[in-house]
Amino acid sequence: ALRQARHPVSAEVTPAALVIGGGIAGMTAALTLANAGQPVKLVERGAALGGMLRDAFTLYPDRRNAADVVAQKVEAVTHHPRGEGRLKSQVTDVSGTVGRYTVRVNGAGQRFDVGAIIVATGAHALQPWGLFRYDGHRVVTQLEFERELRDIEANAQSVGLQASDVVMILCAGQHNGAVPYCSGVCCLGALKQAMEIKAAYPQANATILFRDLNLLGENTYEEKLLEARRAGVEFIRYIPSSPPEVTGEVVEVYDELAGRSCRLPYDRVVLATPLVPQPDASVVAHMLGIAQDENGFFPEVRHRLRPQNYAERGVYVCGAAHYPADWTEAEFQATSAAFKALRHLWAGQVTSHAPVAVVDETLCTGCGNCVQACPFGAISMHQREGELDLSQIDPLLCAGCGNCVVVCPVKAISQPLDSDAQVLAQIEAALATAAQNGRPRILVFGCEWSGHAAAELAGANKLSYPAEARLIRVGCSARFDPTHVLWAFFSGADGVFLGACPPGDCHYVNGNRHAQERFNTLRNLLAESGFDPRRLRLEWITPDDPQDFADKIMDFTNLMRALGPSPVSGG
Ligand code: FES
Repeated sequence: ALRQARHPVSAEVTPAALVIGGGIAGMTAALTLANAGQPVKLVERGAALGGMLRDAFTLYPDRRNAADVVAQKVEAVTHHPRGEGRLKSQVTDVSGTVGRYTVRVNGAGQRFDVGAIIVATGAHALQPWGLFRYDGHRVVTQLEFERELRDIEANAQSVGLQASDVVMILCAGQHNGAVPYCSGVCCLGALKQAMEIKAAYPQANATILFRDLNLLGENTYEEKLLEARRAGVEFIRYIPSSPPEVTGEVVEVYDELAGRSCRLPYDRVVLATPLVPQPDASVVAHMLGIAQDENGFFPEVRHRLRPQNYAERGVYVCGAAHYPADWTEAEFQATSAAFKALRHLWAGQVTSHAPVAVVDETLCTGCGNCVQACPFGAISMHQREGELDLSQIDPLLCAGCGNCVVVCPVKAISQPLDSDAQVLAQIEAALATAAQNGRPRILVFGCEWSGHAAAELAGANKLSYPAEARLIRVGCSARFDPTHVLWAFFSGADGVFLGACPPGDCHYVNGNRHAQERFNTLRNLLAESGFDPRRLRLEWITPDDPQDFADKIMDFTNLMRALGPSPVSGG
């Protein structure tokens, strides 16, 4: 009687696209969309298209002239009949919902509707102020050196690097864990620049100081390294804990492989600093409801993890906004993002089959907890005439994780397919059938994507785990409600086991983190009230390891057997 039907929600998709950012990724995405017949608007905050490539001299691996590549793309984008570029413009607001986003550019200046948005806002190289005597003249960044190389070609006499000593320091600005990731593109950049110098001035000295050389990618990269050695480029490996020191005249470095200190005179020091997120990345993330990783980049949507039942949002990220990427990878990602956007736009309609949460406005007190709790930005407060601001859930953005249901202090939010009444009825039914010959009664709340999936696989593989355990499926561990656990204990459970997706693997962004916080609070409360907290356990379960699940249930059951009946259940 408590079962309810799931009603899909649909909306039309506006047949237009927006690309934010006019670097190589943004231009490629816009061009792919326009070539496919899709009207597209490209918004770039700078005065020209081309992004970081505008400063580059040549491109890896074939040392193609960067200006030519950029010019070709700019020409194609600017003159495309279905494309519209806006320079010196900024997206200031995105409202609306899945299928129809209303975009404002330059404040209230311009406004238009789109069905898909591609974020190609890029990254920028860390400016190493205060490091290695960086001054932008004798000590420069890789990008600044690219400009110098470009000038060398334009007018060799004016630059004066003909017989110079150039020392390149890789991983500059990454010591002390300041930037904990490998930027991935600087080693190849340094190799290319060293080769440019040697090609233009064979008598110049080019030395690369490295801690690790990341030449992953095409297998020709390794060949380029050998080529550089043959051309006379020197390589010195330094120890990260004792990085090179730049004095007024020389670079002092301890050569780890040769086991000796070196003093390298220099005319130019080139610092390979990592690409870091744009300073306003969090503003973009907030505006578009996209996640940021621990470094501030916009992470890849992990499709393997993504439940298929909620609506495709139509927001895609590509290029260095994701993570440091070179131009070939940025182009590849942009094409792929554009094709995803096309699929979304051409479908004409989006449908969500998610178990969408609903608000009972007669109960809502307008506290706003749910707005904070929603990882999808699906909840907002809406003013009612003469009344409080009340919570409103966008059914197309809601993915049905259940986190808002748990945080609502007055139970004004419910999930029709996982209502409190349904869960409590399942708890009672499970405990009623679990009481057998004094054996412990154990309830297992299993996330559909981990605990529950592993249990099903254990069954299919005929793996056995104790019959005392009774399983209740929840959509995500975000739906683990401490009141359900307490109800279970008061109803006679001897132990409660929560099986959730491991950190980073939640299908609803961070439901497992919320579950862990609630679990810790509840365990502390139980311990404070004299109840053995070992009767409540949270385990990370991987769905494809049923044996691990069975072992963990066995271990928990053995503990419950040893502890005996719960004092609350009364035996
Ligand atoms: Fe499994 Fe969120 S989907 S914990």
